Amino acid sequence: MTSTSSDAFVFFGATGDLAYKKIFPALQAMIQAGELDMPIIGVAYAGWTREQLQERAKASLKEHGGVDAEAFAKLSTQLQYIDGDYNDASTYTRLKQTLGDAQRPLHYMAIPPSMFETVVQGLAKAGCARDARIVVEKPFGRDLASAIALNRTLHEVFPESSIFRIDHYLGKEAVQNLLYFRFANTFLEPIWNRTYIDSVQITMAESFGVEGRGSFYEEAGALRDVVQNHLLQVTALLAMDTPIGHDAVAMRAEKLRVFQAMRPLDPREVVRGQFKGYREEKGVAPDSQVETFAALRLHIDTWRWAGVPFYIRAGKRLPLTATEVMVDLKCPPLPVFDEITPAQSNYFRFRLSPEVVISAGARVKQAGEAMRGEAVELIARHQPPQEEQPYRRLLGDAIRGDASQFTSDACVERAWAVVDPALGDAEPVHEYAPGSWGPALATELMADSEGWHDPKPEATPS
Ligand code: BG6
Repeated sequence: MTSTSSDAFVFFGATGDLAYKKIFPALQAMIQAGELDMPIIGVAYAGWTREQLQERAKASLKEHGGVDAEAFAKLSTQLQYIDGDYNDASTYTRLKQTLGDAQRPLHYMAIPPSMFETVVQGLAKAGCARDARIVVEKPFGRDLASAIALNRTLHEVFPESSIFRIDHYLGKEAVQNLLYFRFANTFLEPIWNRTYIDSVQITMAESFGVEGRGSFYEEAGALRDVVQNHLLQVTALLAMDTPIGHDAVAMRAEKLRVFQAMRPLDPREVVRGQFKGYREEKGVAPDSQVETFAALRLHIDTWRWAGVPFYIRAGKRLPLTATEVMVDLKCPPLPVFDEITPAQSNYFRFRLSPEVVISAGARVKQAGEAMRGEAVELIARHQPPQEEQPYRRLLGDAIRGDASQFTSDACVERAWAVVDPALGDAEPVHEYAPGSWGPALATELMADSEGWHDPKPEATPS
């Protein structure tokens, strides 16, 4: 894997939503940090001019983080625009000309996956793919078969080492800290296994609905939208063994091993829900069976995790917006003190958003004669919500050629193999009230555990 830096940044879909919300702010931040001294070329088929794209960049920055006059001036100067049909060979010939002396461009596909093949072939024919990198967005396929086909399409032109599949969750500060916390400390490893851990829960709750993205969501649903990618990636970081070495190859190897050990979902261990009112959203079928909520029990068949359930839950229109991991430890083997309720008060909690929190639950004795205690939380890190810039971090990594936080072909296919049996209408969808924690059936999944830990609004640190 080469670590030579890319020398041009090309983004397809320059006039689109993703560019507006994420890419321009990331580009400005990279310029501020002096990390983007190269041509920046937007490509789209919108009948726009370069000035219009510059205006669009400014509007994007105003709305997402603010305009830094100096950095924006540089961005405007570096920014070029190619307006062209992706099916037309001349679009790529013009791109080749605009790339000028650049030898190692990075091409970012902020476009629907149905266009990938056309663009990849267009790049190859015009000589724009040689020594280039390609960054692709989710959704990476919509099931195992389509993900395999997509990988095949990319591999016709790009070697695996030049393909960067983005999962923006992996660029989040809290997710990186989860990885760091696990492998930068010695005290976790002896207990990070089936002997001490009772169960693991991951909840991704969003208080908002589909926000005008009804037609997109109809093609996805919670399992495809956030479970197959973001939440299984978080699971892999929680469950993987220590990477042997520092590089992306070592990281990917361990992640792949844990993905291989994840048992494909049993539809009977999956609960799908749909919030009341979803079917009235624009772009949603009046009889839609698409899930806006999913809860599931996952098994990881390794010596470390055999018998430890991983409960995963994600939903829209839940009581609040927060993503949280709870690693519940087993109870003490014998109750020396009678009063411990709940018995299971030892845990590790990783709040991944909106705040970053890493904490451990413990019990301590209350002052006084009685051997009576209370649950306390030891907070190792608490960062308040911040304007997150995972794209800035991940795009910077891709430009430098560091693939550690990107998903490999094999991992993405394994993740699909895990969720595939539960996709579509493998299980019926149950209605739930907006503002609730999803269908009651989700609690039945937890029959042999203490129940779901619902994330709460985070207290301000004292
Ligand atoms: C996206 C999903 O990948 O992640 C959205 O398509 C979801 O449905 C979003 O809301 C959550 O990411 P974040 O970083 O905004 O919490």
